[in-house]
Amino acid sequence: MSPTSAFQTAIVPAAGLGTRFLPTTKSVPKELLPVVDTPAIELVAGEAAEAGAERLVIVTSPEKSSVARHFEPRPELERTLEERGKTALVEKVRRAPQLIRAEVAIQEQALGLGHAVACARPNLNDSDEAVAVLLPDDLVLPTGVLSRMAEVRERFGGSVLCAFDIPREQISAYGVFEVEDTGVEDVLRVHGMVEKPAPEDAPSTYAAAGRYLLDRAIFDALDRITPGAGGELQLTDAVALLISEGHPVHVVVHRGGRHDLGNPGGFLRAAVDFALSNPEYGPELREWLRHVVADPAGTIEGGTRSN
Ligand code: UTP
Repeated sequence: MSPTSAFQTAIVPAAGLGTRFLPTTKSVPKELLPVVDTPAIELVAGEAAEAGAERLVIVTSPEKSSVARHFEPRPELERTLEERGKTALVEKVRRAPQLIRAEVAIQEQALGLGHAVACARPNLNDSDEAVAVLLPDDLVLPTGVLSRMAEVRERFGGSVLCAFDIPREQISAYGVFEVEDTGVEDVLRVHGMVEKPAPEDAPSTYAAAGRYLLDRAIFDALDRITPGAGGELQLTDAVALLISEGHPVHVVVHRGGRHDLGNPGGFLRAAVDFALSNPEYGPELREWLRHVVADPAGTIEGGTRSN
């Protein structure tokens, strides 16, 4: 465990139906869609490992077993690539299995994020006093917020969530925290949460992001909640129950960016953003985008441009 790590186990819920990505998600889990060449699940596994996690519990459904297979070694493929002298590709193939010890928990039916997290409970060790939860469709950048959240848990105890400060006029797309200052920069005590409020009703401009550092008490709370929004067992309802019982919950306000990989529009932005900073693809893509943007009416797909 790294010195600031308050957790050894990270849970990645990846058993959702991915309906916003249909028809692709009929057969390809959205967690495996490539951001340039690397699937989102590997990006969040890297983030968890960097924060000191040793174990990744991937919650998947029986239809999505390929998500966990991404963390299995492929010795034959490695051998073939080695024989061809493709050492950089060998490194890419090895990276996921070497990053972190991955294991699987099965969620038979997509009954909600809270239910998915509860499915990971049997995988925990007695020493897991807290667990990190990372939503693989939310890229929080630059990485590092989990380590900050671990420091906040060490200081204040309880559970720690991650927030972004969002312009008030955009706040109604988010779950919004009701907060109080702690005197520590960018650390706030949470008193409650409101889902998708109108801007004038929002209790703050701090919106929830897909990173959680949850005290083990969350699992008992998950056992005690009933289905909420959409008939699903909601993780935020379990957090709200803990708050109502006096459990300390804080947020770290992350002063960075994020990409929502859960819908095609957000996913494309992430892919373009990552590709632009990629030395192999960036320069040409930048040039091509300049060209395309200068002629907004024309697309190759629409038959009004040739290149
Ligand atoms: P989302 O609501 O973004 O994912 O859940 P989804 O349900 O797969 O997508 P849509 O809304 O139908 O397009 C956030 C994360 O929680 C997981 C999802 O896989 C995703 O990574 N999740 C959600 C579960 O593991 N189980 C669930 O029952 C619900």
